Amino acid sequence: MLERVKKYIAEVEEFVEAKEHAKVEEFRIKFLGKKGILNDLFKEFKNVEVSAKKEFGQLLNELKSKTEEKVNSAKEALESKDDSKSIFGDLTRPAQALDLGSRHPISIVRNRIVEIFNRIGFTVSEGPEIEDDWHNFTALNLPEYHPARDMQDTFFVQTNPDELLRTHTSSVQVRFMEGHEPPIRTISPGRVFRNEAISARAHCIFHQVEGLYIDENVSFADLKQTLMYFAKELFGKSKIRLRPSYFPFTEPSAEVDIYWGLETETDYRITKGTGWLEIGGCGMVDPNVLDNVNIDSKKYSGYAFGFGVERIAMLLYQIGDIRHFFENDVRFLEQFKADLK
Ligand code: DAH
Repeated sequence: MLERVKKYIAEVEEFVEAKEHAKVEEFRIKFLGKKGILNDLFKEFKNVEVSAKKEFGQLLNELKSKTEEKVNSAKEALESKDDSKSIFGDLTRPAQALDLGSRHPISIVRNRIVEIFNRIGFTVSEGPEIEDDWHNFTALNLPEYHPARDMQDTFFVQTNPDELLRTHTSSVQVRFMEGHEPPIRTISPGRVFRNEAISARAHCIFHQVEGLYIDENVSFADLKQTLMYFAKELFGKSKIRLRPSYFPFTEPSAEVDIYWGLETETDYRITKGTGWLEIGGCGMVDPNVLDNVNIDSKKYSGYAFGFGVERIAMLLYQIGDIRHFFENDVRFLEQFKADLK
């Protein structure tokens, strides 16, 4: 009896790691299966003479643990071999999810605005972020000592007063008019810079979209209609308000407000409790500006507008703080994955 067990132990020890799963499995069933050798031997335990019981028991345990060890190491060896067989590893493994990026909310809104104006014949134009005095101020009817220059805190590049970071995209109007004859229909999205204190509502870097329409007989009614079309397309409602205002480059001028509502605490904070949010300015292009770029102001008239993209994005996405746009917090940016356009 004891000899038989010893023979089995020897057999287990001699078992060379098989090359196929089936062989290992066969070996496992033979010894460890329900009707396998070990179970049979354990059943025989009660028939063993009392004096031999201890040694028999020890041998059985030895056989069992050696068999288990062999089976495990054979399986492991086979698995690691499987990996090296294919450069792709386990082809049945589920694929890893692709980590999709997302567009920045400012890009999403910019693209939507551009698309809305494209539909009514506006083409996109761009200009430099580092501007000269002429395009940013003088040509726009803001001569050197004009008090309206105080409206814009300007970042100058080094000490050269003729090299500055543009304070508005209206500079692109000037560049476009210098290079094109009417009729002109253009929209100019871009980044602008102002030396302003950073808060929930203002930042020193932000984005504007400038619009310009020059043709014969363009009226303020055309401007209003275009703004209402825009508000309707972008927000689904055309509740806008034009407040008389002043810009040196337009006459008459107005500020464009959109009705945001007053339902949440955020609404109160953002709109300072009025429910209205200013999205930009507009007006009829001042004849002086047309003259500055050699467009006949007796023959042509036009309207212009400039919107803040952040303001619009805050409205659309209910974002309560402008600083989110510039902090690059992935948890914020990831929320715009649905708007991949
Ligand atoms: N440039 C103005 C600003 O930065 C916005 C603006 C107002 C643009 C009226 C225009 C306009 O084209 O007609 O605040």
